[in-house]
Amino acid sequence: MNTNTKTKKIAIVTGGGDCPGLNAVIRAIVKAAALRGWESTGIHGGYDGLLSPMKISSLAFKDMDGLLVRGGTILGTASSGPFSAKTGQGMTRQIDAAILDQAKANFDKLGLSALVAIGGDGTLAVALQMFEYGFPVVGIPKTIDNDLDATLMTFGFDTAVSCAVDALDRLHSTAQSHNRVMVLEVMGRYAGWIATHAGLAGGADVILIPEIPFTFEAVCKKIKDREAEGKHFTIVIAAEGARQTGQDYTTTAPAGREKEIRLGGIGQKVAQTIEDLTGKESRCVVLGHLQRGGTPTQFDRQLCTRFGVYAVQMIAQKQCGMMAALTGTGIAPVTLADAVNRIRTVPKDGELVMTARALGISFGDTSETVVCCY
Ligand code: F6P
Repeated sequence: MNTNTKTKKIAIVTGGGDCPGLNAVIRAIVKAAALRGWESTGIHGGYDGLLSPMKISSLAFKDMDGLLVRGGTILGTASSGPFSAKTGQGMTRQIDAAILDQAKANFDKLGLSALVAIGGDGTLAVALQMFEYGFPVVGIPKTIDNDLDATLMTFGFDTAVSCAVDALDRLHSTAQSHNRVMVLEVMGRYAGWIATHAGLAGGADVILIPEIPFTFEAVCKKIKDREAEGKHFTIVIAAEGARQTGQDYTTTAPAGREKEIRLGGIGQKVAQTIEDLTGKESRCVVLGHLQRGGTPTQFDRQLCTRFGVYAVQMIAQKQCGMMAALTGTGIAPVTLADAVNRIRTVPKDGELVMTARALGISFGDTSETVVCCY
């Protein structure tokens, strides 16, 4: 059914790290656009695809079968290169004008009338720069880290938490059998949403997040307290961005001109130090990219579908320069300018942390408030 007589040709791009649900968003956009009589085009390999005609292909309604449940992105993605806006914590790089000129010339030559950019803070920061340059762009918020302040939730987060909870459930039985400390390192660069949600749902004893610097003294005290209670195993969940008081992030690669620092290694450091200080056998499991792969949960499938349909609606209503956001009551537009460079972190004294503390869960700090009011 064509409800819009003016045919549009829209383009879709996925940027940054991949994430469960990207294909579900693409499917929703292509289907909703096709039912308006619009054509859809895929830009392959992230924004870089706009620089090469070989990386642009049409997307038809009939091609969308099976995409609701398929992990990854059929368009491919890029998290470094000429369109990389993030180079360090909170640092935004301006994309070279010559690159934007070239991309815009190709965009116009293809007769494209709008671009849907699906990504996290970096991808949306580029979308904002492109909008200010003259591209008609709308955004959709993606990241397993759930750290964008302008939306109640990003897609991919629910799936990542489910993956981490499944891992914690499995680690419990082996930790208990061997009387060991098991440390699970999860993603979460500057925000510990995955670790906190999974730690609560998976019954962790210690949750280490970037927002609350920890000391080994406090972590080991929790382990010793459990020993004294006759509990000879402990489950620790650590966000990759967790750090000791006064220390920097644990990294595996430095930032470059077109690349953010690569975090990783805190889990192993925690496990080794616990073993050294307590004498308890400890092991580390790094969940890594398992959190980003595979089929999205039913919640993420719904959210992706709603975001995709909303993006098409924003284009129809000429709401360019906007991003679809989940609010308390539904999906609403927010400006890209209000959405980027605003990282949402776990409030240190918020309800989530207080709930965990009320159960005796340690955050590795000294304020181990067990009885709390909020
Ligand atoms: O931003 C999402 C994220 O999954 C982070 O949690 C993690 O630090 C990063 O991507 C990993 O990126 P890459 O796949 O490039 O190593």
